Amino acid sequence: MQENKSITFIPFKQHNNINCKSYTEVLFITLNKLLEVGLTGTKLGCAEGGCGACTVMVSRFSSHQDRIIHFAVNACLAPLCSLHHSAVTTVEGIGSVASKLHPVQERIARAHGSQCGFCTPGIVMSMYALLRNNPQPSLLDIEEAFQGEVLRSYQSKTFVCSPCWWQKETYMESGWPCTCSEACTKREYVECMKMYQKCSFQQCTQENFMPLDPTQEIIFPIELLGLSKKPLKQLCFQGERVLWIQPSSLTELLDFKTQYPEARLVVGNTEVGIEMKFKNLLYPVILAPAFIPELNTVQRTADGILFGAACTLTRLGMVLRDAVQELPTYQTEVFRAVLEQLRWFAGQQVRNVAAIGGNIVTASPISDLNPVFLAAGCKLTLASKGRVIEMDDSFFPGYRKTVLKPDEILLFIEIPFTKKGQYFSAFKQSQRREDDIATVTCAMNVAFEENTNSVRNLRLSYGGMAPTTVLAKETCKRLTGRKWSDELLQDACSLLAKEMTLDPSAPGGMVTYRRTLTISLFFKFYLIVQHKLKAKEGQNLLLRQNKDDVVGRPIMHLSALKQATGEAVYCDDIPCYDNELHLALVTSTKAHAFIENIDTKEAMCVPGVVAFLTAKDIPGSNRTGPAVYDETVLAEDMVTCVGHIIAAIVADTQAHAQRAAKAVKITYKELKPVVTIQEAISCKSFYQPTRKIEQGNIEEGFKKADHILEGEMHIGGQEHFYLETNCTLAVPRGEDGEMEMFVSTQSTSKTQMLVAKALGVPANRIVCRVKRMGGGFGGKECRSTILSTVVAKPVRCMLDRDEDMLVTGGRHPFLGRYKVGFMKTGRIVSLEVTYYSNAGNSADLSLSILERALFHMENCYNIPHIRGMGYMCKTNLPSNTAFRGFGGPQGMMVAESWMGDVALHCGLPVEQVRRLNMYKQGDRTPFTQRLEQFTIDRCWEECLSISQYNQRRKAIEQFNRQHRWKKRGIAVIPTKFGISFTALFLNQAGALVHVYIDGSVLLTHGGTEMGQGLHTKMVQVASKVLGIPCSKIHISETSTSTVPNTSPTAASASSDLNGMAIYDACQTLNQRLQPYKTKNPKGTWEDWVKAAYFDRVNLSANGFYKTPDMGYDFETNEGKPFNYFSYGVACSEVEVDCLTGDHKNLHTSIVMDVGNSLNPAIDIGQVEGAFMQGVGLFTLEELLYSPEGVLLTRGPGMYKIPAFGDIPTELNVSLLRDAPNEKAIFSSKAVGEPPLFLAASVFYAIKDAITAARAESGLRGPFRLDSPATPERIRNACEDSFTKLVPEAGTYKPWAVQV
Ligand SMILES: Cc1cc2nc3c(=O)[nH]c(=O)nc-3n(C[C@H](O)[C@H](O)[C@H](O)COP(=O)(O)OP(=O)(O)OC[C@H]3O[C@@H](n4cnc5c(N)ncnc54)[C@H](O)[C@@H]3O)c2cc1C
Ligand code: FES
Repeated sequence: MQENKSITFIPFKQHNNINCKSYTEVLFITLNKLLEVGLTGTKLGCAEGGCGACTVMVSRFSSHQDRIIHFAVNACLAPLCSLHHSAVTTVEGIGSVASKLHPVQERIARAHGSQCGFCTPGIVMSMYALLRNNPQPSLLDIEEAFQGEVLRSYQSKTFVCSPCWWQKETYMESGWPCTCSEACTKREYVECMKMYQKCSFQQCTQENFMPLDPTQEIIFPIELLGLSKKPLKQLCFQGERVLWIQPSSLTELLDFKTQYPEARLVVGNTEVGIEMKFKNLLYPVILAPAFIPELNTVQRTADGILFGAACTLTRLGMVLRDAVQELPTYQTEVFRAVLEQLRWFAGQQVRNVAAIGGNIVTASPISDLNPVFLAAGCKLTLASKGRVIEMDDSFFPGYRKTVLKPDEILLFIEIPFTKKGQYFSAFKQSQRREDDIATVTCAMNVAFEENTNSVRNLRLSYGGMAPTTVLAKETCKRLTGRKWSDELLQDACSLLAKEMTLDPSAPGGMVTYRRTLTISLFFKFYLIVQHKLKAKEGQNLLLRQNKDDVVGRPIMHLSALKQATGEAVYCDDIPCYDNELHLALVTSTKAHAFIENIDTKEAMCVPGVVAFLTAKDIPGSNRTGPAVYDETVLAEDMVTCVGHIIAAIVADTQAHAQRAAKAVKITYKELKPVVTIQEAISCKSFYQPTRKIEQGNIEEGFKKADHILEGEMHIGGQEHFYLETNCTLAVPRGEDGEMEMFVSTQSTSKTQMLVAKALGVPANRIVCRVKRMGGGFGGKECRSTILSTVVAKPVRCMLDRDEDMLVTGGRHPFLGRYKVGFMKTGRIVSLEVTYYSNAGNSADLSLSILERALFHMENCYNIPHIRGMGYMCKTNLPSNTAFRGFGGPQGMMVAESWMGDVALHCGLPVEQVRRLNMYKQGDRTPFTQRLEQFTIDRCWEECLSISQYNQRRKAIEQFNRQHRWKKRGIAVIPTKFGISFTALFLNQAGALVHVYIDGSVLLTHGGTEMGQGLHTKMVQVASKVLGIPCSKIHISETSTSTVPNTSPTAASASSDLNGMAIYDACQTLNQRLQPYKTKNPKGTWEDWVKAAYFDRVNLSANGFYKTPDMGYDFETNEGKPFNYFSYGVACSEVEVDCLTGDHKNLHTSIVMDVGNSLNPAIDIGQVEGAFMQGVGLFTLEELLYSPEGVLLTRGPGMYKIPAFGDIPTELNVSLLRDAPNEKAIFSSKAVGEPPLFLAASVFYAIKDAITAARAESGLRGPFRLDSPATPERIRNACEDSFTKLVPEAGTYKPWAVQV
């Protein structure tokens, strides 16, 4: 193996030349190897092919295609052994800040497309691989290339937009918004196009970017070309526990399969890789047939197209697309159905390597292709005895089983042409439209007697309805010979309702929804066929400021370039120390139990294990927790949630530590767990105190009201899904108990204090350092790994994605119960609301989160008589914790529910009722704070105008009249978000500013950088106050040794607090330098600094700030909890498919008041990022728990966060102009959390569309819709004749419960 800094170049020259420490490294070594040789740009986000952070480009000569091919792959699933004769290009290979940036890196960085940066290298490489194959991609190509990337921070439109700069025309035609300035949105598209020529932000013009020159790209290594053209040789690699064999011919492959009948064939490793990593399966022999010519065959036959089983899905797609272009339409019905399924099949990286054979033989009940192959009756050729079989339901005899005998392999699949009078469709319904596994997937094939509408043959196949892909045989039999008519439809629906049943406790849950889908999808097919049969018959920033003043300018995130090249260092990128050890967690599998016995015998025999640590090994205190010490570092005799950390294994490698941790055997004595809010209410399992805010007299209010309504809403939790999982590197310094901690945390001081407590040393022995984080969103405020070690060697622990999701908790699920009294006009007079949050197994920050929900219970509405109560449910779930919005979104979500109910009850437009009840300037909130500088009115009016609300509403009404099964909806939602920590003492910050003799400035403050651009903004503040360019100022890291006693970087307040502390420190320095400026007015900064130094002036200053006039008392309902409020309004339009529950986000306009923005580019990014995270919260992300409290959704495969396709087709973000905020640094406002709730506009637009659908069935008035509005909930709410065929099951034990 050879590698250089820029490209990993991997020709295996001899057999057996890999010295593998453990079996996993044989398979997962591509990513491990890159990290081992110091290529840290490729990141590990999930290890299951679901996030794209590890994307690299593989190039190889394809003898089947007779050309060099380049394709993006997930390094976390690519076995190193599979890369024989391949070149791997990582993000370091295409450019660097140190040498020369690649145009892709430069554009993504300059277009503000990198925020936390952890996923940026993956996105760069996806784009790079696309451009290597196609230098002029269409928007569709770009969207497809990004399908394998998840969205967690601010990349939304800039990513898609910036690559279009390769083609000015595409960009202009597509209307994608430009991101060059704050108001440069699609709304001002025409102006933007003018600016495109003469934009004031020079970085936005195409001339300022390096041109893409395909001739300068890395050349495919000539040695590889030579080697690749030589005849194939057999290769064997022996790992610690796995033998990898690459046979050189089909005969050899079949011989090996006879010799090793249990051997697995691995092509893409996208199934086997997952099984080995997450299901703990071990396959001692692996056969790699990817290079065998017969298995790569593509051949047209008389009946269809024959594909070798090792053909990748990308190749399958290419060949079928060509065939669809060339052949008559009637012949390609099945091909088009396969292409439709491929559109929604995984991400590009997976499709580039995954093989057709792998999908068939895995026999997954939710395979997307098997229903198509089954319904089409594809012919499969099996080799060994050489039989050819037609694919019918006998091919899958059981769960993940096929009829293949142990010595058989799948050689070919023939996908047939269709004939005249034959129609074929495939459908996939999933939680998220792109890159998600199916809830129900199906294919439908009907052939008619010649020139009639009489069914000659019907084949309906379904996935997701049984342990295997199944045919609805009975239904098909009964419908054969019938006419394609409404009577057939009715009978088909009844027959399917009977035949496609599911046990109410079936794995995967959503039983009613899945059963309804089988019918709804048939109805879709019916309409498509009927149609065919009938057809046969006949923000621009105006700068009024000094050109040197950088505050308010959209300067690029300071680390953006390094993030785009992979040079930015995250915690786990810190090079290994000598003798460094790795730590893995042993966690509870029971939600509530006594620990009876721990058996470590097997674990201690795993090679490289150094220590097994339990609570007894904690030298200081084992009690821990951010607010109250009600948690254990390591469990003592009892566990209170699945994922409770019981012990830790320390070993020489991460793989050994994890293997040993899995080998620890624990026996428990189980106790009954409390899992859901309902269960906690039933047994009164609450943390104390409860909270209440009351104003007016609600009983009097209810007496006055014309109507009273009661309702309930549940808002599900949310996983933070920061791209960088929790990571800690603890380095004992060997003297006086000193320990240096490198931690991916938002709370350096808290980490320092808790580590000191666990180690039993004073805090002054512990230094906690943070360079940057790959996202935090509150998840690294208190739940960051605080495990240190008693081993006197450096120890590293980075959690795998599944562990991180299991152990660290997330956003609190909430249940809101309300009673609302109102007049006929829609004016609300009285409200009683009670919130229950699911806090989990420790108090953590639940009290402050509940308080914030109560502080936001009325959102923007003035309710004269109001009472809010709050309870924290103590349950046996992992402790829930801080998450962007911190209870505020849950509080406001319930408010919009009762607001909608009132409007529906009164039969009034909900926007009118919202406006009627809205606060006015000077009104007081229920907690008696006066609303000053109240800008909601302005945001509201501007949002209605930008979104063209009235025209939209009319168009929607017309659309809904014309469409029975698709409905559109619209909603305008305001938000008011209080800024400050509600715990008074946290509203303080410190800064330390050093000026060195050469004039350079080292800036330190208490905030941490997690992608939100805090450091960039703080440099802008220092630059303005000191009057020097940003380039002279550097922030190295956040450390407890420079700024002590810091508050967590949270509550959106970090720019406000740290900015003021920096202002204070810089003013001190200015005062000290003033005499030298006065003496030498024409001098430079460097002159003044030098003069002051020689005059023995202290050029280091610290700064401090505490927010004045604050403090609130719940007992008396007096005082001021917030320094000020941030305001915003969003209008969203959606389209709902009433038959499947799918929805499309068509349009969103947001107007956000961020005061005088410190950095409009960063602020727009924050608005977009928060909004999309809210879209995830309210429409997509669903954490599923078993009734026993086991988290079932532990990775991107099961838990879906928004992807590029979820961004509204039009997304306009405007920052409210001329709204200076006198309460914060340079008149700015906090922006991190407030916009998140605006995504409720999408939720309530969906509810509006459902209201229209229900009206078609004669259903009017309020109805309950819980969050998130998943396809299941939407479909079930759109009640119709089909849903009536599938009644709710009675009493049963569900697979998953609403917690
Ligand atoms: C992130 C991600 C997203 C995914 N999304 C989807 C999706 O949307 N829809 C979907 O249907 N699937 C999805 N999958 C599953 C998977 O990608 C497919 O099943 C894929 O086609 C498997 O092909 P492979 O080459 O990677 O299989 P491998 O992992 O290499 O092999 C899988 C199995 O097939 C057997 N096998 C392979 N070839 C042969 C042969 N010729 N003869 C006999 N046995 C053989 C192997 O022995 C092995 O047991 C996803 C997987 C991941 C990781
Ligand atoms: S780490 Fe490979 S796709 Fe997430």
